[in-house]
Amino acid sequence: MPRAVRFDRYGDIDVLDVVDVERPVPAPGEVLVRVKAAGINPGEASIRRGLMHERWPATLPSGEGSDFAGVVEEVGPDVDGVRVGDEVIGWTDQRASHAELVVAPAEHLTAKPAGVSWEAAGALFVAGTTAYAAVRAVGAGSGDTVVVSGAAGGVGSLAVQLAVLAGATVIGVAGESNHQWLLEHGAIPVGYGDGVVDRIREVTDGRVDAFIDTFGGGYVQLAVEELGVAPARIDTIIDWDAAQRYGTKMEGTAAAASAGVLAELAQLIDEGRLEVPIASVYPLEDVRDAYRELERRHTRGKIVVRP
Ligand SMILES: NC(=O)c1ccc[n+]([C@@H]2O[C@H](COP(=O)([O-])OP(=O)(O)OC[C@H]3O[C@@H](n4cnc5c(N)ncnc54)[C@H](OP(=O)(O)O)[C@@H]3O)[C@@H](O)[C@H]2O)c1
Repeated sequence: MPRAVRFDRYGDIDVLDVVDVERPVPAPGEVLVRVKAAGINPGEASIRRGLMHERWPATLPSGEGSDFAGVVEEVGPDVDGVRVGDEVIGWTDQRASHAELVVAPAEHLTAKPAGVSWEAAGALFVAGTTAYAAVRAVGAGSGDTVVVSGAAGGVGSLAVQLAVLAGATVIGVAGESNHQWLLEHGAIPVGYGDGVVDRIREVTDGRVDAFIDTFGGGYVQLAVEELGVAPARIDTIIDWDAAQRYGTKMEGTAAAASAGVLAELAQLIDEGRLEVPIASVYPLEDVRDAYRELERRHTRGKIVVRP
């Protein structure tokens, strides 16, 4: 029987288990994929803890995981253009990708280019589409100075690179250990904590056009009140209260969740223009360790599980 992550009650990391499950069967329009790699995301940890119960309740017992890349194992009825053996990148909305086998609608898949590693492909969907949405939401382009908080995290590391590709000058707010990585990817690093506003002003001559907040904890307020950024050019993917208070954008995964965007991102990786930094790779059976690392909240790029 195939193995998959399950939890049957809300709680800490120890509610996660890897168990034998029934082999999933693709319905019409769906495809069964043998997972090669799957990214993990902080939102899944919040759901597992029950913190998202109002917004996204878990149906218990629940699986985990949206992102995946793998090889098509079986094609359901009424599917065109996908064949057994195809290497694909995709996503499921059923919290099910941390598993050996996952079913997904055929329109959630795009071809994996040969030059994209399984790890990068498997971690691409949530972080990639969210970064894409955020950069688009703030209209980052040539001549703009854009600040990104959480600049070396899963979403931030991609948002920084996409904003640089769009022609913006990018200031990345991150811990010291990520400054070299940011420099190497075309951004100007700035440390967080006391004095962050002064440090941002120092490197921008006081002019910031747009702000992408991937961390929360007051960055939206800082952008509006201290840096004078127009709310229409601020996007937060986490601080809903501040977004409502100041009228900023809140565009994340849902705003860019399409196979077309995934294909665009995969092509950039294939061309060597976008890097998905892979912090760690864990065997599926060690999924608890993967979340332990993620929940320390100092990941550079993505953590991946591999069945
Ligand atoms: N709305 C959506 O659609 C959507 C989609 C995806 C994610 N999210 C949410 O967005 C957030 C980021 O996700 P992620 O996957 O990028 O998370 P992540 O990979 O866990 O990001 C962790 C990053 O946070 C940074 N960090 C820690 N303390 C910080 C501070 N005080 N100031 C600035 N940065 C700090 C860390 O930087 P250092 O290592 O440099 O310390 C690390 O790079 C999560 O809350 C997630 O739930 C929302």
